[in-house]
Amino acid sequence: MKAIKITLPASLENLQLVELPDPGQPAAGQIRVRIHACSLNFHDFAVVTGMMPTADGRIPMADGAGVVEAVGEGVGEFKVGDHVVSCFFPSWETGGAAIADFSTTPGDGVDGYAREVVVKPSHWFTLAPAGYSHVQAATLTTAGLTAWRALVVDGGLKAGDSVLVLGTGGVSIFALQMAKAMGATVIATSSSDAKLAKVRELGADHTINYRHQPEWGNEVLKLTGGRGVDHVIEVGGPGTLPQSIIACRIGGHIALIGVLTGWEGPVPTAALMAKQQRLQGLIVGSRQNQRDMVRGLEATGIKPVIDSTFVLTDIGRAFAHEASGAHLGKICLAF
Ligand SMILES: NC(=O)c1ccc[n+]([C@@H]2O[C@H](COP(=O)([O-])OP(=O)(O)OC[C@H]3O[C@@H](n4cnc5c(N)ncnc54)[C@H](OP(=O)(O)O)[C@@H]3O)[C@@H](O)[C@H]2O)c1
Repeated sequence: MKAIKITLPASLENLQLVELPDPGQPAAGQIRVRIHACSLNFHDFAVVTGMMPTADGRIPMADGAGVVEAVGEGVGEFKVGDHVVSCFFPSWETGGAAIADFSTTPGDGVDGYAREVVVKPSHWFTLAPAGYSHVQAATLTTAGLTAWRALVVDGGLKAGDSVLVLGTGGVSIFALQMAKAMGATVIATSSSDAKLAKVRELGADHTINYRHQPEWGNEVLKLTGGRGVDHVIEVGGPGTLPQSIIACRIGGHIALIGVLTGWEGPVPTAALMAKQQRLQGLIVGSRQNQRDMVRGLEATGIKPVIDSTFVLTDIGRAFAHEASGAHLGKICLAF
């Protein structure tokens, strides 16, 4: 079977197409899955470019979706023909956060899904939403579940809440769709007016160009009558957090998700304290969270926004497209 491997030093040029032996039939508790799609995340980009160190020969990609081809003894959750999607933390079944690193995450600490077939314990997957293509399902593992956890699990989102989403990447567009489907008001930011027009089509109630309005926190206050939003989908990190604190209401929730502007930096702690906001760090979610999200997606009819799809051998071009920042929503691989 075909697979992609990272050879060190990691770079987009050092992603190699290789031929690997077929993994064979599943043992007890395992399933064999024919992978048909992956989706790209900033995390995968950090791994394939060496920003986050990984092992020589690692198969990249945390997100994989496909069809169950065989089930091992004792597997009751899946049957042959089921459409499934991978889990970011295969061993975190349920309950509160259980892991603070990527040692068990496919495509980082262990081999991922840039390959045609895997044989893995059944708890490495959940069912995909009914009616989803493999490409659509492959967007859920990381971006979809992060948005769901931020809004629903940690945020306790309810109709009437207001949500600020930063930029138009995978996580933020999912958060926009989920928040709108659940009756929230959404304010979206972007560096591009053309992208802001698209997010209005997707349901954003208000939009702000963060390049033209670097003090966008105050603009959010104006749009919310001085109150601020209930939830911020904070994907920027240190470069955006001060404005997010301004934009968030007293007692509001900031889901600290991303590192797009860097890995560390000063935090206006007094402002955070005075506004009595909850700054909640998170990494994706549990397998139970994923099953709940799948049910939520089926009930609401949300379909992921796919920016573009590349073939497996064009993985380097796909990541270059992500790095260009030209995309809106998810970039995928189909094979
Ligand atoms: N903690 C977790 O569990 C978790 C899970 C998934 C992702 N993440 C993190 O979340 C971040 C986003 O991930 P992603 O996969 O959604 O990335 P992505 O699809 O590559 O999104 C990138 C987009 O973010 C926007 N952006 C960049 N710099 C910005 C800034 N200074 N202010 C506002 N928006 C900015 C841009 O949107 P415009 O072009 O519209 O300006 C850009 O297109 C990454 O740091 C990633 O590592 C964390």
